[in-house]
Amino acid sequence: MVVALRLWVFVLISIQTQLLVISQNPTCNPNDLRGLTGFMNALYSPIDGWWPANSSSSYCCNWIGVTCNSSSGRIVKLQLPDQISGGRISTSVSYLDQLTTLDLSHNFLSGPLPVPLFHLTHLKELNLSGNEFNRVLPVSINLPALQVLDISDNNLRGFLPFGLCVNSSRIRVLDFASNYFTGIIPPQVGNCTFLEHLSVASNFISGIIPDFLLGLPRLYKLAFQDNEFTGIGNSSSPLVHLDISSNRFSGNIPDVFHNFLSLSRFVSHSNNLSGGVPPSLSNSQTISFLNLRNNSLDGPIDFNCLKMVNLASLDLSNNNFSGTIPDNLASCRELKALNFSSNKLMTGPIPESFKNFESLSYLSLASCSFSNLSSTLEVLQHSPNLTILVLTMNFYGEQLPSDSNLQFKTLKALVISNCGLTGSLPSWLNSLTQLQLLDLSSNHLTGSIPAKFGDFLSLFYLDLSNNSFSGEIPKNLTELQSLISLEDDLAPDLMNYNSRNLIWLTLQDYHIRMFPQLLDLSSNVLTGPIWPEFGNLKKLVVLDLKHNNLSGSIPDSLSALRNLQTLDLSYNSLTGTIPSSFMVLLMLSKFSVAYNNLTGVIPSGSQLSTFADASFEGNPGLCHQDSLKYCERPQVLLETPAASNEEEHSVTRLLAFVGFGTGFFVTVFYMLVVPVLTSYKTHS
Ligand SMILES: *[C@@H]1O[C@H](CO)[C@@H](O)[C@H](O)[C@H]1NC(C)=O
Ligand SMILES: *[C@@H]1O[C@H](CO)[C@@H](O)[C@H](O)[C@H]1NC(C)=O
Ligand SMILES: *[C@@H]1O[C@H](CO)[C@@H](O)[C@H](O)[C@H]1NC(C)=O
Ligand SMILES: *[C@@H]1O[C@H](CO)[C@@H](O)[C@H](O)[C@H]1NC(C)=O
Ligand SMILES: *[C@@H]1O[C@H](CO)[C@@H](O)[C@H](O)[C@H]1NC(C)=O
Ligand SMILES: *[C@@H]1O[C@H](CO)[C@@H](O)[C@H](O)[C@H]1NC(C)=O
Ligand SMILES: *[C@@H]1O[C@H](CO)[C@@H](O)[C@H](O)[C@H]1NC(C)=O
Ligand SMILES: *[C@@H]1O[C@H](CO)[C@@H](O)[C@H](O)[C@H]1NC(C)=O
Ligand SMILES: *[C@@H]1O[C@H](CO)[C@@H](O)[C@H](O)[C@H]1NC(C)=O
Ligand SMILES: *[C@@H]1O[C@H](CO)[C@@H](O)[C@H](O)[C@H]1NC(C)=O
Ligand SMILES: *[C@@H]1O[C@H](CO)[C@@H](O)[C@H](O)[C@H]1NC(C)=O
Ligand SMILES: *[C@@H]1O[C@H](CO)[C@@H](O)[C@H](O)[C@H]1NC(C)=O
Repeated sequence: MVVALRLWVFVLISIQTQLLVISQNPTCNPNDLRGLTGFMNALYSPIDGWWPANSSSSYCCNWIGVTCNSSSGRIVKLQLPDQISGGRISTSVSYLDQLTTLDLSHNFLSGPLPVPLFHLTHLKELNLSGNEFNRVLPVSINLPALQVLDISDNNLRGFLPFGLCVNSSRIRVLDFASNYFTGIIPPQVGNCTFLEHLSVASNFISGIIPDFLLGLPRLYKLAFQDNEFTGIGNSSSPLVHLDISSNRFSGNIPDVFHNFLSLSRFVSHSNNLSGGVPPSLSNSQTISFLNLRNNSLDGPIDFNCLKMVNLASLDLSNNNFSGTIPDNLASCRELKALNFSSNKLMTGPIPESFKNFESLSYLSLASCSFSNLSSTLEVLQHSPNLTILVLTMNFYGEQLPSDSNLQFKTLKALVISNCGLTGSLPSWLNSLTQLQLLDLSSNHLTGSIPAKFGDFLSLFYLDLSNNSFSGEIPKNLTELQSLISLEDDLAPDLMNYNSRNLIWLTLQDYHIRMFPQLLDLSSNVLTGPIWPEFGNLKKLVVLDLKHNNLSGSIPDSLSALRNLQTLDLSYNSLTGTIPSSFMVLLMLSKFSVAYNNLTGVIPSGSQLSTFADASFEGNPGLCHQDSLKYCERPQVLLETPAASNEEEHSVTRLLAFVGFGTGFFVTVFYMLVVPVLTSYKTHS
């Protein structure tokens, strides 16, 4: 620690002295140089390319992130996003008095914001987002040229600094999101007459969204989600985007939408709103995106599609709406996405008019107490543009319809999970050749898994878990093209994959691609082997075959699945060893082979050795390399010359069932030696 500190002192002193040398260079303005020197001295480490020993860059206007005005030679822009690894902002920033743009976003900077920063009279854009600044903002702010201020995602507290609009009358963009600001929106906000976009999202602001804010003539976007607001004013407003989700609004939705002359996007999920949708909203000609999810709204669903000519997405999920799905929705010409999931009691049937619902692309009716799957599918198959259909938790105990005339030509995702459906997989499923995602989990389905699924060119997520499927896993599943092809797309975002029951929540945003490449056949009664050809499905992220009756050995080839994050083979009847090649599966975060009949030693020095015993238990013949209490070391094998890499597989198989009469089960000892030697060989 002391050494490091001394080193820093040395580095900083040498920077300073070298900067002084350059100060004799007339081309770098002395004020600017003093400003930059002070600025750098307050950082934890120097900025690459600001090292004056680099003679080509000793003229400070050429330094990384620095822009000068060519006629005055003064620094006008300092833009260093993502380039500093911590420190503070020095008060000597006041010497950079010609700055028009300062961008220090995402730099781990901390401490208070220095007062001189708020008196740079030429500053137009100030971006300090994504740092760790704390404390309150100064009371007095004089940034007369300021147009854009982004101090989002810091640890600032205190009141919102709307007083700044008194001196900074030209502000267009204010972003205070993700801090700890408290209090209300103060009246001075009325001075921000040029304000276009205001975000105070994720703070602790309370009170109402005042009329003098809504009345600002250029305001088009308000992001007020995740605060403690309780009400909204009703003055006439040109707002286009209004997000007030996750606040403390309760009672009826105020009938003020006729005042919002241009409102296109209204998001108010996760409040405590009750009652119905007010007439000014259900007749709005401007609304395109309406999200009222997760409130306590009730009564029938009633929207005037003759007026709502722009409505494209309607999310009413997680409320208390009741009655039937209205017949007229199909006449909302732009409506593409409908989410009615988790409402009280939506009695079927689905309106016949949905047959001609040309724009409908996404429909979720999950958990609505629907019945008659057969008639629901019969109607929806005619919906010409239907792409995503989620029917989870309805139709309890019905039979999966086997009508061979059903056809869904455009469907990319079909989710009918948790319905207790009976029967086997009908042939109409074979016609869903565009399918990317199929989830029929948690039903009572029987029979075999169709080999035909292997032909689906785009299928990358297949969940048939928690059913009673029997027979072998069709080998054709190892031919699923979109799990094989190496054409690279974005890695899936597993953050959104915590609970399968939330599948309809994430799907509604058309994010099919957020789902991981998955094959889940767990909790069925499947028999036969795990085909070595599974090793072809190189893009798989989740392979779950637990709780079946699979036998044979674990194919060595699975080590080719380098993207695997979950591999669960527990509760089967697998024998043989854990292939030592599994050492290369570095992405694994969930792994289990528990309760099989595996033998040998758990490959050590790899990701596998980081998993708890629970991942391996229930295999009497399996042991840890470093705790050999159940594994006696056979000296004779230790003395055998090491097998070559090529031979390893067959040799281990040969030796796989060597038993010892110590009262414990079978163990394989050769595996103790080979992995160590072979890995040593490959690394040297
Ligand atoms: C000097 O700086 C320039 C631009 O800042 C950079 O491209 C170059 O690699 C640097 N040279 C040395 C020796 O650091
Ligand atoms: C550069 O500086 C000159 C003189 O100070 C000024 O007139 C001009 O507007 C500046 N240009 C820019 C692009 O800032
Ligand atoms: C501020 O910087 C961040 C990260 O560099 C960027 O995402 C954001 O858009 C900037 N803010 C404004 C208002 O331009
Ligand atoms: C406006 O600027 C003046 C001059 O710097 C300053 O004294 C005053 O406190 C500022 N007003 C606000 C509300 O910050
Ligand atoms: C501007 O702010 C002052 C308080 O600093 C306030 O008295 C005045 O009413 C505000 N102007 C507008 C138009 O809201
Ligand atoms: C809406 O504005 C009118 C006057 O324009 C006022 O009388 C009424 O109380 C306001 N309603 C709400 C809910 O604020
Ligand atoms: C939700 O609103 C109802 C009245 O509509 C109120 O009784 C209840 O306390 C509110 N709940 C919360 C958590 O604010
Ligand atoms: C629903 O809203 C409540 C607050 O009313 C919130 O606590 C909860 O996290 C929200 N749930 C979801 C799934 O958004
Ligand atoms: C839905 O309505 C029922 C009564 O009709 C009520 O008991 C229940 O609390 C309501 N649920 C919500 C989330 O408002
Ligand atoms: C059907 O879906 C396609 C692709 O999403 C879209 O381009 C087309 O406009 C849709 N048709 C209608 C009538 O909305
Ligand atoms: C299964 O795969 C084999 C070999 O690739 C192929 O000949 C057969 O047609 C496939 N079966 C089905 C039902 O697609
Ligand atoms: C495990 O394998 C051994 C040897 O092949 C066999 O004797 C034993 O019955 C198997 N145990 C189970 C639970 O299948």
